[in-house]
Amino acid sequence: MKNRISSHSDNEAIHNEKENIPSNTSGNRPFSDVLKVNQTRRNVLVGSLATAATTFIAPKAFAFGWPQDKPSHKYPGKKGLVGFEPLSIEDAIIDNTVPSIASEYQYQVLIPWGTPIEPGATEAYDGNPFTRPTSEQACRQIGIGHDGMWFFPHRGRHRFDRYGFYYSNRKGMLCINHEFGRNNHVLGKDAPESLEDVRLSQNVHGVSVVALKSNYNGQWRVVKSPNSRRITVNTPVEFSGPAAKSKLLQNPNGNTALGTVNNCGSGPTPWGTYLTCEENFNGYFGATEGEIFNDSRTEEQLRYGFDFDGFNYGWEFFDKRFDLSDPDYINESNRFGWVVEIDPHDGTQKPVKRTALGRFKHEAIAIAESSTGQIAAYMGDDQRFDYCYKYVSDKPWKQAIKEGKSPLDEGRLFVARFDDDGTGEWLELTINNPILAERFYDQGELLIYARIAADLLGATPMDRPEWTTIGKDGEIYWTLTNNSNRTEPNAANPEAPNNDGHIIRMKDDYLGTYFKWEIFILASSTRETEGVFTDPDAAYADPFGRLFIGTDGGQPDGLQDQLVVFDTTAENPEPKRLLTGVNSDEITGYTVTPDFRTAFINIQHPGNGNPESTNFPAPTDGVTIPRDCTLVITRKDGGIIGS
Ligand code: FEO
Ligand code: CA
Ligand code: CA
Ligand code: CA
Repeated sequence: MKNRISSHSDNEAIHNEKENIPSNTSGNRPFSDVLKVNQTRRNVLVGSLATAATTFIAPKAFAFGWPQDKPSHKYPGKKGLVGFEPLSIEDAIIDNTVPSIASEYQYQVLIPWGTPIEPGATEAYDGNPFTRPTSEQACRQIGIGHDGMWFFPHRGRHRFDRYGFYYSNRKGMLCINHEFGRNNHVLGKDAPESLEDVRLSQNVHGVSVVALKSNYNGQWRVVKSPNSRRITVNTPVEFSGPAAKSKLLQNPNGNTALGTVNNCGSGPTPWGTYLTCEENFNGYFGATEGEIFNDSRTEEQLRYGFDFDGFNYGWEFFDKRFDLSDPDYINESNRFGWVVEIDPHDGTQKPVKRTALGRFKHEAIAIAESSTGQIAAYMGDDQRFDYCYKYVSDKPWKQAIKEGKSPLDEGRLFVARFDDDGTGEWLELTINNPILAERFYDQGELLIYARIAADLLGATPMDRPEWTTIGKDGEIYWTLTNNSNRTEPNAANPEAPNNDGHIIRMKDDYLGTYFKWEIFILASSTRETEGVFTDPDAAYADPFGRLFIGTDGGQPDGLQDQLVVFDTTAENPEPKRLLTGVNSDEITGYTVTPDFRTAFINIQHPGNGNPESTNFPAPTDGVTIPRDCTLVITRKDGGIIGS
C-alpha cells in the first residue's frame, strides 16, 4: 500500500508525541523572524559567504581517527563529484518492505539488532515474534535503534615506510549508538511487568563498540576483539569538567554514576575517540506519584521536559533511579543529557561525560580544528525552538593531551544568536557574565542547566537543530529538521509551519564570537522535483565537497526516508537520491572507510517494529519482527561513494 500523501509523521514524534511540546518559554525572538529578512538576501549571501572564506581561519583537519585532510584518493570519482544516476521516485516506491538503492550501488546488511558480539556472545536474536533475548543476552548483542556511528579503522605500520602508518579499509572498530526501542518492539508488550523486562529495555539502549572485518569480496562481518563491548544504561561512567563535582550530580543515597541513554547522533574526535550524544533522556524518567509530581515541577524540570509518565517506558516502576518521585535519587536525571566520550580501542575504559559541553538534548557533534590546534565543536539541541551551541577548547588539543588533560574539559561554551543580516554572534555561557551569575551559583550549575542560561542570553530559537558536519572548506552545515509549531515565518525559517525543514551553512571564526550564515537549502524548494526530500536530520560532509543527508519524517510522493547527496560546490545544489529505506523507518548515521569507497548507514526503527509493515532485514514473511540494522554501501565499480 503506497502512501502518496506526505504525512510528515515524524518518527521521533511517534517515539514521543510530547516532544511536539516546546519547553522554551523564554520569549526569545524566534529564528523564523530572522530568516524572513535573510531569506530575501539569499543570493547575495551565497556570494558573500563564498568570498568571505579568506577572512576565516582555515581548518587544518576535519577529523578523525584517520587523516581525512589527506585522503589517499584526491580523485573525486569517475563521474564527477555527484555524478551517479539517482534513484527515481518510481523505482524507489516499487517495494517499500525492502530498501531501494541507485543502480550503480549495492548494499549488504550488517549487525541487525540481536547480533552477538564477541567475545562472550550468546545466541543471536533473529526477530522471532514468539521470543525475545534475555537481559543478560542483550548485554552481549548489538542493541536496537541504530543511529550515529563512526568507523575507526585499524591502524598499522606501513609496509614500505617504517615511519608511516596505514589505515585499513577492511578492518576496524565500529562505534554505534542505540538510540531507542519502544516497549512494543523490544518487549512485545506496552509496559514492563518486571525488573527483568526493564533490564532488557535498558540493555538494548546505549552504544555498541564492535570489531568488523571484510573479506576480499567486500563482505563485512563481526570479528572477535578484546575491545568489543556493549555500553548500556547500567554501565559505570564518570564525569569530568567543570560540573563533575557538582552536588547536583550527587544523590542522597550516594549511588555511583551509571549509564548512557537515548544516544542519538555522534562525532569522532581528532585524537581518535568517539563522542555519543544523549538526546531525549527526559522520556526515560517517570514519577510513581503521578500527577502530584507534575504539579510540583521545578523550572529546571519543566525546561528539560520531565513529566510523570515520560515516554511510557515504565522503568520507574521497577528501577528507582528513574523515579522522579524518589527523594533518594533526586539528581539522577541531571546525570543525563551529556556528550559522552568512549575510547574505541580500550574495552576497559569508563565512558566519560564531558560536562564542559553543557547539558541539553544533544543531537550530534562535529569538531573542527583551527590553525592554532584548538578545537571548535558544533552541537544542536533538538527541540522545537531550541538552540545551536559551540564549544572552543582553551588549548591546542595536542598540548592538552600532552599535559594529561582532555581538550573537552577546559574550554568555553557558546550559544548562537542569528542576526537578520546573515551574521551572528556566539554568546558565552559563563558565570563571569553578571546576568548568569545572578541566576547560577557556579559554572557547574550553569552547565547542568545550560538551556536556561542560553534563554537568559537571548539565543535564537531554532527549528529543531539536528546534526552538524564540517564541509570541505571548513564551513559548518546545520540540519533543521522541521517545526510544526512555528506560527510566524521569518528569515532562517521562512516557513510557518516549517513542515519540510532546511539546512543552514555557517562560516565561523572557530575561536571567536562572530559568524556568517546562509540558507543552504529549503527542503520545500525540492517539492515538485525528482529529487524531492524533506526533514533533513543526519549529515556528513566529505572532504571533496559532497554532503550526505539522511532524512527522518514522512517523505512526499510515497517515498520512504532517504539518503540524498549534494554537491556543495555547485551554484544551486540539488539533492540526488542514493537510497530509500523501508516503511516507517529512518535513515541515519553515516560513516566511511578511509578510502571513501565503503559507506555505512543505518535503517532505524524499520516498520516501527510492526511485522505487518516490513520484516526487514529478514525475508518478507509477515511475522518476523523487523530489526534495526546497518547497511554497507559500495559502488558496483568500486568507486568513491557519492560519485
Ligand atoms: Fe534523535 Fe533529533 O534525533
Ligand atoms: Ca531517531
Ligand atoms: Ca536525529
Ligand atoms: Ca529527527
